[in-house]
Amino acid sequence: MYVYLNDRLVPRSEAVVSVFDHGFLYGDGVYETMRCYDGVVFMLDEHLRRLARSASMIRINLPADSDSLKLMVYETLQANKLRDAYIRLTVSRGYGPIGLDPELCPSPTLVIMAEAMKQYPAALYENGIRVAIPSVRRNLREALNPEIKSLNFLNNILAKIEAAQGGAYEAVMLNASGALTEGSISNLFFSKGGVLCTPSIECGILDGITRGIVLELAVKEGLTVKAGEFGREDIYSAEEVFLTNTTMEVMPVSGVDDARYAVGGITRLLHKAYRQEVKAYVEHMKAQGPSIWGYDE
Ligand code: PDD
Repeated sequence: MYVYLNDRLVPRSEAVVSVFDHGFLYGDGVYETMRCYDGVVFMLDEHLRRLARSASMIRINLPADSDSLKLMVYETLQANKLRDAYIRLTVSRGYGPIGLDPELCPSPTLVIMAEAMKQYPAALYENGIRVAIPSVRRNLREALNPEIKSLNFLNNILAKIEAAQGGAYEAVMLNASGALTEGSISNLFFSKGGVLCTPSIECGILDGITRGIVLELAVKEGLTVKAGEFGREDIYSAEEVFLTNTTMEVMPVSGVDDARYAVGGITRLLHKAYRQEVKAYVEHMKAQGPSIWGYDE
């Protein structure tokens, strides 16, 4: 396995970062998770745009421009001979003496890792996953805005630990005002009376790329969509619940705390539409030429 580290590809054993890196010391950095389908990185531009936004929100200057980052992502895939892959691109504040001042770190650290895509078990899509609402609340927007896809994941990890202790697969957090937000690594949707609901960005969530696509697809499919503020009672009384993210796509939920749901028609419809969207995207990108970013057939 090869890892892109700063300015070059290195074997996995040499892909090491200093203990003085502020990503390690303080969780000071940002990242993106992407998915490559049949040699095409899905929504690469959108992921790089969000990376740039996250980086600018914590005042990190990205070490390369968007076209160079694209090239590096495809070089990483090529070096590892991967066509269906999980990709993680991390940018940390970089190496510097101990201390919080970002000025201590002259250059950010860049890491791109790609691994063969490990599919979620088909049974999870058939039956849905169990979710819990933990006591841990989502970070306040005014404290650490969840719109920043940062390396600082303790809030999500604490929620996940609590959910896992109760046997749930994912945690859906409330914000400080008691409104639903998102999962530890996913966005939340539920339907009630034919209306598809999802917490709005203002509730304190990551602006998920999968969420955005699912919202567009739902409108195209003629569903009524409502992004807003909802409480835990709204989800307990929902008919269908599902989660979205880049790797799981559209994942049905079979239960939230004591409430139970069937894997219903809206969830299946939107997952099918999402997969069609991915297929169309991959075909479109391939039609542009075999190696726009250096990744040949
Ligand atoms: N997680 N909310 C949170 C807190 C997330 O970490 C993620 C993604 C999402 C969904 O975003 P997207 O649809 O753009 O993947 C929502 C990724 C998959 C991860 O942490 O690996």
